[in-house]
Amino acid sequence: MDVWARASCNRRTFLKGVGALALCSGCPGPDPDNPRVIEYPNIPEDWDFNLPAADPLLASYTINKLTIPNRLTKTATRERMADWQWRATGTYADWQRTLACGGAGLVITGSIYTQLAGAGLPESCLADGADKVPCLKLAPQAVHDVGGIIFAQLTDVGAETTAQINGGLGARAPSAVPNLNGQVPRVMSAAEIADAIAAFGQAAAIVRDAGFDGIEIQMGHDDLASQFLNPARNKRTDGYGGNLANRQRFALEVLAAVRQAVGPDYPLIAKINGDLGTQAPEDLDEAIQTALALEQGGIDAFDVSCGGPEAISGPHRPPLEAFSEFKENRNVKSAAAIRAAVHRPVIVVGGLREPRTMRLIAHNEGADAIGLARPLIRSPYFAKQILEGSEDRSLCGSPNDCLFGLEQGRLQCWNMCDTCSA
Ligand SMILES: Cc1cc2nc3c(=O)[nH]c(=O)nc-3n(C[C@H](O)[C@H](O)[C@H](O)COP(=O)(O)O)c2cc1C
Ligand code: SF4
Repeated sequence: MDVWARASCNRRTFLKGVGALALCSGCPGPDPDNPRVIEYPNIPEDWDFNLPAADPLLASYTINKLTIPNRLTKTATRERMADWQWRATGTYADWQRTLACGGAGLVITGSIYTQLAGAGLPESCLADGADKVPCLKLAPQAVHDVGGIIFAQLTDVGAETTAQINGGLGARAPSAVPNLNGQVPRVMSAAEIADAIAAFGQAAAIVRDAGFDGIEIQMGHDDLASQFLNPARNKRTDGYGGNLANRQRFALEVLAAVRQAVGPDYPLIAKINGDLGTQAPEDLDEAIQTALALEQGGIDAFDVSCGGPEAISGPHRPPLEAFSEFKENRNVKSAAAIRAAVHRPVIVVGGLREPRTMRLIAHNEGADAIGLARPLIRSPYFAKQILEGSEDRSLCGSPNDCLFGLEQGRLQCWNMCDTCSA
């Protein structure tokens, strides 16, 4: 049994008592040579495991000139709470307000699409014209009413859409490489690339005018910017493909367009992949190079996740990206390596479930802030609970019913995952 399986087995024993002991028959128990690996999987072993008296999660930090009051962040999760004309609704605003009330110092919306061609999920927000501003305003207003901070996540999903979703336009991508569902997109022309970049700039001005406090540009997972960065999905032979500098060009031009639209003082985060699913060291090398290039290009912070297709077994399960396959503390080491290379705050996201681990990350400066997605879908007040000193683990078991449920309707926790995995 590998270390992770053993650690997960231990957790089950701890969480579920006698019932779990039955599950764990055959478990060899903690590794006496290395108890920390058991207790804190995927955390650097040379960290200081003694926490100070003052909770490091309560400290503020800044992104550009904006002070974020604590170290817990609600990372982006698609809501499917807009109307069929891609406009934000009161339900959408109420959800963001709930998250802000729940204690996260920074709330990042789910994907807001920059143009119809790049929209990946119906009943989502699209920031493609000034007519969207009045509805989009509802969310920042709701969050500001309770003293919260909200950033808009902007993205274009490139290959990961269909003509049914994007008004008949069909999926386009850097290259004709099959998407996660095996469908082949058409290759983007130079004009389409320029159009997609300009759309990010236009969308940035729209969300700023709507009152969002900042923007997260999605350059990770398997969305369009990442499709350009990823050599397995970018086979172009022009200036946007080939060597790393060329593959970075799209992301850097998007950043430049967004920066130009919002001005120098407006906070911008880039969500990036620390690896492409297999945790290959060369992926992390490229991620660090890309982070440095983005820093040079004027980004204010990073949100480190991971990408790459990852098939989740089970007959009814569609393929999923690596970010959603649960692995405890999945991206902590890559985030720490990126943080050591750049001079901007880093948020780490992916499989963070234990408050004590979150405190260790902040204390050891492995990351400046902790990103939580599914735990806050499961319990929006989990952040508040942690900031009040709780050490209780998230109840989210992470088999992704909330993610699969987006195919049918709005985001919700189906509340049953904590009984099928831990
Ligand atoms: C239902 C659902 C929707 C998601 N939608 C987005 C999204 O719109 N944009 C994004 O960058 N990440 C999205 N993610 C990924 C999360 O932000 C996060 O990176 C991932 O879930 C790992 O964090 P966690 O283990 O705390 O859930 C989504 C995840 C889930 C479960
Ligand atoms: S549906 Fe499952 S994976 Fe999603 S938040 Fe709820 S418990 Fe977690």
